[in-house]
Amino acid sequence: MALFSRKKSNEPVKIRLHNVHKAFGTKKVLAGVDLEIRTGESLVIIGGSGTGKSVTLKCILGLLTPDSGHVEIDGKNLSTLSHKEHDEAISQIGMLFQSGALFDSLSVWENVAFSLIQNQKMNKQEAKKIAIEKLAQVGLPQSVADSYPADLSGGMRKRVGLARAIATNPNVIFFDEPTTGLDPIMSDVINDLIVSTVKTLGATALTITHDMNSARKIADRIAMLYEGKIIWVGTVKELDKTTNPYVRQFVAGSATGPIDVEVKVA
Ligand SMILES: Nc1ncnc2c1ncn2[C@@H]1O[C@H](COP(=O)(O)OP(=O)(O)OP(=O)(O)O)[C@@H](O)[C@H]1O
Ligand SMILES: [Mg+2]
Repeated sequence: MALFSRKKSNEPVKIRLHNVHKAFGTKKVLAGVDLEIRTGESLVIIGGSGTGKSVTLKCILGLLTPDSGHVEIDGKNLSTLSHKEHDEAISQIGMLFQSGALFDSLSVWENVAFSLIQNQKMNKQEAKKIAIEKLAQVGLPQSVADSYPADLSGGMRKRVGLARAIATNPNVIFFDEPTTGLDPIMSDVINDLIVSTVKTLGATALTITHDMNSARKIADRIAMLYEGKIIWVGTVKELDKTTNPYVRQFVAGSATGPIDVEVKVA
């Protein structure tokens, strides 16, 4: 059962994707994605490997430009904004990248404080203090602050990534596969941390995962991406009752059903 309140359907839309298309060469990845994420809501996108989940996130962040359609943040169409306005809209988003994406040459606290120092021009002493607070918030002791990413386990790196994502107290946080590569217990720890940090910040959250336990735990609503479109959106309760054969197959993790599973033999 999700820990978030479900009474968020009247909140204003924070992020909207309107008929977003994105192809790479002849490969169509997004083929008309429509999606609304309401303020304060935790929305989870599920879908198979290579279906375009990360591409969707990158289109919202402006790291990729949709071929057609558009993305709105706070009702503003990103493609019509000036460079400065665009940066402002994006700067309210914190991001936990799929790979963790820590800078190996920077210490843990410098990773966490990166945006505070680079974008907000905060002095190092103040930034380190905040970094240590954020590390504590994700359950890491001060002693970790001066170590380097290479010294940490996968679970600890995820926590550092999470501390970095929340360092600027963002209004919106994106989590790309936050539990991939972690054991089930550490996955659950990270899920709980996501729920508690998002709650503490009162943030809007968008998470991408193929881990259904994680989705169930952190989602107010779940959206499924398949063949370039959002084919289903609903609450966890609705997920368990749906008769949609694609959703049912994905949730059951079954190799048989309507979803085309490409199996490449090396
Ligand atoms: N910059 C790029 N250039 C070319 N192709 C790309 C690029 N980014 C993504 N793709 C392709 O787009 C498709 C979707 O990629 P994406 O990373 O969004 O998948 P995903 O749903 O996040 O998968 P996974 O669950 O494995 O992370 C893939 O076929 C990928 O190879
Ligand atoms: Mg991905």
